[in-house]
Amino acid sequence: RKKLLVDVDCGVDDAQAIMMALAEPNVDILGITCVRGNTNVENVCKNVLRVLQACRKLQIPVFRGVDKPILGKVISAGDFHGQDGLGDVPDPNAPGLDHLQSEGAVSAMIQIVNENPGEVSLVATAPLTNLALAVRMEPTFPSKLKGLYIMGGNTESRGNTTVCAEFNFAADPEAAYIVLNEFLCPTYIAGWEFTCYHKLPWSWCDAWLAQDTEKARFMARIFRKSIETSKSERSQAELVDGIGFVSCDSYAMAAAIEDDFITESEQVAVTVELTGTYTRGMMVLDKLGLLKKNHKAFVMKKVNMKRFEELMMDALK
Ligand code: BDR
Ligand code: CA
Repeated sequence: RKKLLVDVDCGVDDAQAIMMALAEPNVDILGITCVRGNTNVENVCKNVLRVLQACRKLQIPVFRGVDKPILGKVISAGDFHGQDGLGDVPDPNAPGLDHLQSEGAVSAMIQIVNENPGEVSLVATAPLTNLALAVRMEPTFPSKLKGLYIMGGNTESRGNTTVCAEFNFAADPEAAYIVLNEFLCPTYIAGWEFTCYHKLPWSWCDAWLAQDTEKARFMARIFRKSIETSKSERSQAELVDGIGFVSCDSYAMAAAIEDDFITESEQVAVTVELTGTYTRGMMVLDKLGLLKKNHKAFVMKKVNMKRFEELMMDALK
């Protein structure tokens, strides 16, 4: 069985990734940790609880994490995901925050991994603030992970948030820097452009949401706003490889769930630009090896899309 720890800033694609993992019979989610990103951490916690309730999995422990980047200004993605992170469709029956665990996210991550050394894959689909603090609190934390799966960063300097930076790295560049330089475990990265090159057709999305299930109706409700934005001329994703539906965070999740999901990757040392006027938060790929870093990440290039479609479909069954 696969043991996952999932760190999210629960916007709509985080919700899709969580639902993918919840639907997989061979996957145990040991905990979901929340961090500020698409929206503030309180909303993120509420959103995760709503997703778990929609999937009847409220027994999975959820932990509140950090509500501020390590340095620099706070950014959010309310224009895309909705100000509340889940499409601004309030749910009067949403579970209360009393469902959260009392322990904080960072210490919970450390404890869960200590209890399962070498067995836990950490899927990070958000700014990497919680992870950076975890390695500061417990320097051996990364070495006890089975693997780290990140949605974030970019490979062709096409930003979706600033000129050159992808949202999760732009929202906390220092945290991304710490993680890419100090998590010396097997690391798999689904960067922004990669996800855009693996879009699904909107007709596929229509059929996906039209499934006659409670989960599909939940997804259709929370997804409506970002579908409108995606289809509008403001769409960032469309600028990379044309129109279609991209569930960014779900690629990192699929890679963690399915051993042979990644069919082609580039093994390369990666870091993050911290000081550039235009490039702060941009992922840097050391293709020439000039940084002399021994640790190399697997930057995802091609994946098994047939399997991805199945995993996505199963998520709403
Ligand atoms: C990433 O930014 C967030 O808005 C999404 O949830 C995803 O994790 C894409 O750049
Ligand atoms: Ca996310």
